[in-house]
Amino acid sequence: MKGDFHMIARVFALGLALFLVGAPAVAQDRAALIAQGQLLFRGQGCYGCHIVGKVGTPIASDLSRVGGKYKEAYLLQWLKDPASQKPTAHMPKIAMTEADARALAAWLASLR
Ligand code: HEC
Repeated sequence: MKGDFHMIARVFALGLALFLVGAPAVAQDRAALIAQGQLLFRGQGCYGCHIVGKVGTPIASDLSRVGGKYKEAYLLQWLKDPASQKPTAHMPKIAMTEADARALAAWLASLR
């Protein structure tokens, strides 16, 4: 019985240690992903139709607070295929890698 407790305590301590080591790394990855998404606003040509803050073109919606409007999963799906989220969408489907779409969605979701 006593052995069991020590075993459980050890597993718990190990899990806690891994969590404490891992958490900052995850937060850093997240920040890097968002920074990457911000670069893609130019890289993928989004600024040709949208505005975020003071950057862009006011042809389509201002995305400065779009993170408060939609969840990240919706934004990701929207980027992959606007028409899949809204059949009448007037935004063209823009070819991009899964990684780029994820970075853009993370950045958009952070705009509040
Ligand atoms: C050719 C112009 C054009 C480009 C380029 C473009 N969009 Fe759009 N986007 C639109 C239009 C038009 C809408 C409105 C669609 C609708 O609701 O019918 C829209 C809507 C959106 C929405 C939903 C906004 C809302 O409030 O509902 C998001 C998010 C978005 N675009 C992100 C992006 C991102 C990110 C890029 C770059 C990868 C991009 N767009 C590139 C024209 C464009």
